[in-house]
Amino acid sequence: MGATVLLTGGAGYIGSHTLVALRAAGHDAVLLDDFSNARGDVPDRLARITGAPVTVWRGDVRDRALLARLFAAHRFDAVIHFAALKAVGESVERPLDYIDVNVTGLVALAQAMRAAGVFRLVFSSTATVYGTPEAWPIPEDAALRHESPYAFTKLTCEEALRQAAAADPRWQVGILRYFNPVGAHESALIGEDPQQPPNNLVPYIGEVALGRRPALRVFGNDWPTPDGTGLRDYIHVEDLAEGHLRSLEHLLAGRGGHVVNLGTGQGTSVLEMLAAYERAVGRALPHEIAPRRPGDVAVLVADPSRAAALLGFRARRTIDAMCASAWAFVSRRATGG
Ligand code: WQD
Repeated sequence: MGATVLLTGGAGYIGSHTLVALRAAGHDAVLLDDFSNARGDVPDRLARITGAPVTVWRGDVRDRALLARLFAAHRFDAVIHFAALKAVGESVERPLDYIDVNVTGLVALAQAMRAAGVFRLVFSSTATVYGTPEAWPIPEDAALRHESPYAFTKLTCEEALRQAAAADPRWQVGILRYFNPVGAHESALIGEDPQQPPNNLVPYIGEVALGRRPALRVFGNDWPTPDGTGLRDYIHVEDLAEGHLRSLEHLLAGRGGHVVNLGTGQGTSVLEMLAAYERAVGRALPHEIAPRRPGDVAVLVADPSRAAALLGFRARRTIDAMCASAWAFVSRRATGG
């Protein structure tokens, strides 16, 4: 018997791909989203991919009256909490907004869950809770430090959930620390579709490939890495969605709370990512070396072994598959597909 799961922020990049993975595994999901960073046609596209309409509640996760109505209308077996602000640079400019949405939003959600007797929660966290790591690959017991308001909010949420579970053992929480999600669903109907100018590498390369930006700025080629450009652990969004399914089913089976990295354990440089995207597009893409970006670190690569041992999760899609799927999505969107 499949579970019924609430996905907050479920019309967004990771949430929409997770709904597809849940439905493929026999579960169902209800979406709550304010559509501040998601296109209005995503639910229809999800219906086309999965063959069934999607129940959507439009609203803000901080709206306690809405949450009470939502939990009265559905009997949820679990919640996956995606709804948050997530741009590191923007968080430096708007720390109070990030704390309000990310921390107050989590507290409102958890209190609504408790009132409804729902205690299984998968929480979307991030590798930025490691700050500038001392060594890599980074294990989950590495030092945690916030170097941006965004990372502060995610660390605060993780600690709040740890304290809630310590006070009440009914809480079963899966904390997932994403490394760098990229790519799109194989249908090219859903993908990374930022509603503001992209900060992240792969969507920015997509804009260059579409001719909307003159060139990719490579933020520094003097890093202590093999080719001098930043090294990251990119994970295909469809693998990431699979990781959420494994975490959810671990909780549903009563196997308990967990904190795991979701990454591949492999580092890819900016220039290597650009080359893979060029292979997907079939032509060279203009780029220039630019100064380092404030707040960047040289290397962020996961130790993925705990997710493998605990959840049986291993990311398997390649960098070329990530870029090919990303390009298929953005070029389809650009032609109104
Ligand atoms: C990747 C690499 C840049 C853009 C961020 C957040 C993280 C997570 C994922 C939320 C770096 C380089 C980038 C460009 C470039 N989001 N780059 N030119 O910074 O590793 O992680 O997004 O959870 O929290 O911190 O991702 O894609 O911005 O950068 O050279 O135009 O590409 O320097 O080396 P990042 P990114």
